[in-house]
Amino acid sequence: MNPEFKGRDIISIKDFSREEIDHILQTAERVEARLEAGEPLNLLQGRFLGILFFEPSTRTRLSFEAAMKRLGGGVIGFGEPETSSVKKGETLADTIRVVENYVDIIVLRHPMEGSARLAADIASIPVINAGSGAEEHPTQALLDLYTIYKEKGRIDGLKIGILGDLRYGRTVHSLAYALSNYEVSLHLVSPPELQMRREVIWDIKGKVEVEQAERIEDVIDRLDVLYVTRIQKERFPDPAEYERVKGAYKVDKSLLAKAKPDLIVMHPLPRVDEITPEVDFTPHAVYFKQVKYGLITRMALLGLVVGVL
Ligand code: NCD
Repeated sequence: MNPEFKGRDIISIKDFSREEIDHILQTAERVEARLEAGEPLNLLQGRFLGILFFEPSTRTRLSFEAAMKRLGGGVIGFGEPETSSVKKGETLADTIRVVENYVDIIVLRHPMEGSARLAADIASIPVINAGSGAEEHPTQALLDLYTIYKEKGRIDGLKIGILGDLRYGRTVHSLAYALSNYEVSLHLVSPPELQMRREVIWDIKGKVEVEQAERIEDVIDRLDVLYVTRIQKERFPDPAEYERVKGAYKVDKSLLAKAKPDLIVMHPLPRVDEITPEVDFTPHAVYFKQVKYGLITRMALLGLVVGVL
């Protein structure tokens, strides 16, 4: 029997089993096939999505909007809390209580850890976490898994490197948890100041092989997948700390010369300076394809939580 998604919140990737994640990936694959066949997918006609973004975003907001509209649904919301009643001091809880009257699903991005869980506890409609502080970004992890699955044909058995700001980056936390459901070996690569939070390592260590390294040069030749992230400048409590680590790692053609020929390089984007533009033109680069897989995965998720897929 297929797992039940109708009416569910998507708050933490930890709330999902491997069976459920696999079902999401299979649903995304069916959506992709229907899109490629040019089938109209008016599955969410008459439904509305509320997009409440309290932090900057390009991809996540636009891809949720595009996903909903491609499914025939409507979208309302804000990407700029400055123009909403939040500016007047309205609490997140009140904003949720109001918006849930207008829409069928809420997508929330907020700088506070725990914000999405709070919203889900309040709302009687599904809430999707599109980033809760440095904590989690579960839909990014699902689209990352879909990208790996599509580009490598499998997830089990792969050696996956995660490089960058593993301390403040929420995508890498959700990705590490998501991958811990599979038989992978994880190489966590970062300067010592930006190491993965201890509680995440603690949680995943019993489930998958985890190795930590400081320099990507030392592990690049072993990897099947390299997931790169930017340094999350805006989340550093101390600007001096950021100055110390900025520019600490770089993925360029000379690094990739040591990689397996079929290594894929991923990035949730935005990229700053951690992957040089010359890499874009190598067969390793899949980060712009990842954006397309993101749209497909989010279409699948919206269809699943409404119960039409
Ligand atoms: C990420 C985020 O917001 O956490 N962006 C995204 O959703 N693709 C990554 C980042 O900001 O570095």
